[in-house]
Amino acid sequence: MSAPIVVDTVAALRAQVRDWRQAGLKVAMVPTMGALHDGHVSLVRIGLEQAERCVVSIFVNPTQFAPTEDLDKYPRQLARDLDRLREAGAHLAFTPGVAAMYPAGFATKISVGGPSSGLETDFRPTFFDGVATVVAKLFLQTAPDCAVFGEKDYQQLCVVRQLCRDLDLPVEIIGAPTVRDAHGLAMSSRNAYLGEAELDIARRLNVILRQSAAMLAAGSTEIESIDHAQQLLVGAGFQKIDYVAARESVTLTPWRRGHDGRLLAAVWLGATRLIDNVEIPAA
Ligand code: PAJ
Repeated sequence: MSAPIVVDTVAALRAQVRDWRQAGLKVAMVPTMGALHDGHVSLVRIGLEQAERCVVSIFVNPTQFAPTEDLDKYPRQLARDLDRLREAGAHLAFTPGVAAMYPAGFATKISVGGPSSGLETDFRPTFFDGVATVVAKLFLQTAPDCAVFGEKDYQQLCVVRQLCRDLDLPVEIIGAPTVRDAHGLAMSSRNAYLGEAELDIARRLNVILRQSAAMLAAGSTEIESIDHAQQLLVGAGFQKIDYVAARESVTLTPWRRGHDGRLLAAVWLGATRLIDNVEIPAA
């Protein structure tokens, strides 16, 4: 595979995408914050099944980090990321600086309602405004035909779908399954913060969620299943649980038996916050 073209200005990005379009090629986009792992690579592969060209943005977006969060220590490793993109077959890496995305005087914010309420928003109240604003900018800058987002960040995927629907953004949103390590731990750039002992605990998260989702599907009440999950999570060594919640798959409103559902969780291991979610199996 040849190395991706790397551009850091909107003008250069638009010029390249315009050339592809004139040649009749379809363009997929994968927005990322870098520190790329197999989860990100899977999104590129899915993008390339839908389109002849794939643009990957790498931008650690400051507006989605609260002042107390890990913006400064978020892993940045562009050279390694570009190697991964070459292996994956991506055609262009868009790597804007903060000043290019948010020039002095920037004063706009996109706030999506609906699926953004609750869950992450209860703990990170400004997070989805930052995500929606940067994703809208990336879509307007790139004008892709489709964009791929991971189910790993399930609420984010729902919020991006809502954003495109509400603003008539002509981008087809494709949800991609969560890529996990051999123990079921969802790949995440933040896993790099975990030591060996913490990794062992982190690997319990998906097991416990799957068990509780199976309990729910088998007829246990939501209170029983979620209490059970919380006890197991604390027993496994997670120090704090932000939420474990059963929600409807599309709207993220409270789950009703007989409907498609998702069990979502956010937990803490030391200073590291992990999120994961699983499907509630049909009964
Ligand atoms: P980031 O955390 O880098 O994730 C980029 C994309 O990769 C997201 O769509 C995310 O859901 C997906 N992803 C992460 N881990 C995954 C895994 N294990 N399996 C499958 N997909 C996975 O999410 C963001 O960046 C940002 O919020 C962004 C959308 C780029 C806006 O700044």
